[in-house]
Amino acid sequence: MQKKIRFGIIGCSRIAANSTLPAIQTSQYAQIVNIGSRTNEKAQKFAAQFGCNKYGTYEDVLSDEDVDAVYISTPVGLHEEWAVKAANAGKHVLCEKSSTTSYLSAQKMVLSAKQNNTRLMEGFMFRFHPSHKKVLELIRNNALGRLFSFYGMYGFQAIPKSDIRYNKNLGGGILNDATCYPICASRIIFGKEPIGVTCVLNLDKETSIDERALIMMNYGNDQFAQAAVGYGLFYQSLYSVWGSEGFLKLSRSYNIPPDMSALLTLNNAKENNEISIEPANHFSLMIDGFSKEVLGIDQAAFNFEDDLLNQAKVMEAARLSSLENRFIKLSEIK
Ligand SMILES: NC(=O)c1ccc[n+]([C@@H]2O[C@H](COP(=O)([O-])OP(=O)(O)OC[C@H]3O[C@@H](n4cnc5c(N)ncnc54)[C@H](OP(=O)(O)O)[C@@H]3O)[C@@H](O)[C@H]2O)c1
Repeated sequence: MQKKIRFGIIGCSRIAANSTLPAIQTSQYAQIVNIGSRTNEKAQKFAAQFGCNKYGTYEDVLSDEDVDAVYISTPVGLHEEWAVKAANAGKHVLCEKSSTTSYLSAQKMVLSAKQNNTRLMEGFMFRFHPSHKKVLELIRNNALGRLFSFYGMYGFQAIPKSDIRYNKNLGGGILNDATCYPICASRIIFGKEPIGVTCVLNLDKETSIDERALIMMNYGNDQFAQAAVGYGLFYQSLYSVWGSEGFLKLSRSYNIPPDMSALLTLNNAKENNEISIEPANHFSLMIDGFSKEVLGIDQAAFNFEDDLLNQAKVMEAARLSSLENRFIKLSEIK
């Protein structure tokens, strides 16, 4: 019988209920063994819904010897606390995006994982979707020539101010919540880290939460990425990549339902093509990818901990750029 990663759940969130727990439940590499919540009723309800015998507090999950790994989907501002506690309890950690609120926080999380010989992955499910593999394949096969620019857009309708995303103490704001996606996507497309970042974050007057973000990342060698992200906008979730010989655009780049095909538009001298990418459940692919790496069955396409640190460094540069109104070199982030 295939060995499975036994997951404990830290936080009965909406994303856990709607996407991640169903993905764990149906995975051949993972299973849910304990569900933790701040309230007993919610833990019990989730346990019943996902056919799990054990439930309790977050601490109960961490002290359970049957738990190999935890899935953390608390608000961003609480990720570090529970990721470090989980690593110290000997558990591997799959932590929702954004995993951290600062580069220092990311360093602490990775250090705790290294010290405890556990693994830590930032839960960017989108990167497991086959559409990005197809984009990378086209780039590798020179369909775009030499890459010049990445442009990402991610935005959705206004959300209520009672949401965790409007709470400063809980790590709210559009940078941590959604700008992280095109930042991560551009790092994947260029296959390297930017040398510097310029970012403007527009704040809501009432909460001081960043609601709109414009970011420019200089990848060096005449290569740039930009992204526009915000709340209170007509829905957009896409990126385009432009090179010396071609242009492509990927629809629903960051959040695509499991039954929807992604549409990739490719224009170059040889073709003007619309490529439909088969529907796929990126949450399931993420759970399988994480579990297979931890089980030693398969190596993921990226190093979990290095990637989390590199992403956090760019995020920190974006915060500092907006705060100090200047271009921030990545080398300034220590
Ligand atoms: N990958 C994706 O597509 C995706 C999509 C949405 C969100 N996310 C990420 O997932 C996480 C949760 O987002 P969500 O929208 O699902 O949030 P949510 O429904 O508000 O859930 C957050 C959960 O965190 C726990 N929590 C612990 N301390 C809390 C506090 N002080 N205030 C509020 N909740 C607290 C609660 O669980 P208990 O009451 O059970 O303790 C709560 O249900 C965030 O990190 C977010 O960035 C990822």
